[in-house]
Amino acid sequence: MTQTQVAIVGAGPAGLLLAHLLDMQNIDSIVIEKHSRDHIESRVRAGVLEQGTVDTLVDSGVGERLKREGLVHHGLELSFEGRRHRLDLHELTGGRAITVYGQQEVIKDLIKARLDKGGQILFEAGDVSIDDPVSNKPSIRFRHNDELISITCDFVAGCDGFHGITRSWIGRDVLTIYEQTWPFSWLGILAKSKPPSSELIYCNHSRGFALFSMRSPEITRLYVQCEPDDDLDEWPDERIWEELEMRLGAGDSIRLNEGPILQKGISSMRSFVVEPLQYGRLFLAGDAAHIVPATGAKGMNLAVADVRILARALSEYYSSGGTELLDGYSDACLRRVWRAEQFSSGMTAVLHRFPDSTPFKRRLQLAELDYITSSRAASKVFAENYTGLPFDY
Ligand code: FAD
Ligand code: DHB
Repeated sequence: MTQTQVAIVGAGPAGLLLAHLLDMQNIDSIVIEKHSRDHIESRVRAGVLEQGTVDTLVDSGVGERLKREGLVHHGLELSFEGRRHRLDLHELTGGRAITVYGQQEVIKDLIKARLDKGGQILFEAGDVSIDDPVSNKPSIRFRHNDELISITCDFVAGCDGFHGITRSWIGRDVLTIYEQTWPFSWLGILAKSKPPSSELIYCNHSRGFALFSMRSPEITRLYVQCEPDDDLDEWPDERIWEELEMRLGAGDSIRLNEGPILQKGISSMRSFVVEPLQYGRLFLAGDAAHIVPATGAKGMNLAVADVRILARALSEYYSSGGTELLDGYSDACLRRVWRAEQFSSGMTAVLHRFPDSTPFKRRLQLAELDYITSSRAASKVFAENYTGLPFDY
């Protein structure tokens, strides 16, 4: 029987960063991950890091490549009614910015940092289960390299994402689920082509939403709103470029550069929160506990904020035996989570085409976009939320 202080289920941004932050406080952990290292290092997902996320990675010593290769953006554009409107995030927030850096690059940096320091990440682990999460010595069991392994620990961190299993160990009598699904999905592509603009463009178009992002000056990341039940077969490359071109309104002032598509995927849009995030010695963090629709670019940033709070709480426990921060973990995270849910829902509602839309509802969307881009007060609210609230919010 193996022992550790904190058993962490899931090697996404939440689990890996938690292991790293705990190690900085000399707290021992083991990360148990379902997939292979290769799989998780090549999974294309998020791209926008809030200022606080960048600060966390840099301050904890895993931001070397991020500082070198991340693209710092001081503004973004909202496009509607055929016109683009720039919001100067930097000026509106008194100096904050976002950084575009692929989630899989964050994953590579964190895995390397853990393994370089002799940390344990067990990849391709199956059938994970938790015993006694409400006792003082919980344990987790799983299959690894055809062996059944059991680890006793002081705490279990459930960082296994939305489709993970740790959430199901929270007693049905204490768990409340809040959920909303949205009537559309995003088709995302990564293409070897020059991004149409040096900043992100979020488009509200009568044909549906589109988003123009990037990973480098040569690689572009583009999203187009599609039907929730669409299949990738229904989206040959030509159809994707055609829709993107129409929704961007490419013309003299802006050009969409087509190039080979390197990756394609469809993601559903969901809002989801469970409460509480703690059950005895089990603590949930990141997508295991909450999902936001991707429009606000908040998911990975919330995962980072959760584990910052959890690492500090565990550090208090191991240094003094105090449980005040652990007891307050759920409430502290949920305050920021609900704020991000509200912002992401608002952005999703104003930018997408809804199946039950009416001319009246469409005018409301346009009135809101006009307000966000022309009132200084409204622009500031948008910019403060988009770049991320400070960690002590
Ligand atoms: P995950 O990244 O899902 O990691 C969970 C890990 O647990 C995975 O590695 C999984 O394999 C593992 N696991 C699952 N089940 C088990 C099990 N039973 N046993 C062991 N391991 C298990 N967020 C942003 O902040 N900014 C963005 O710009 C942004 N854009 C996005 C665009 C798209 C298209 C999508 C899909 C998401 C986007 N997000 C964005 C959201 C972001 O990707 C997630 O919020 C983030 O990955 C959450 O991290 P996590 O560590 O909580 O979970
Ligand atoms: C990206 C993803 C998002 O969900 C978003 O809101 C902005 C950018 C991206 O992958 O670059």
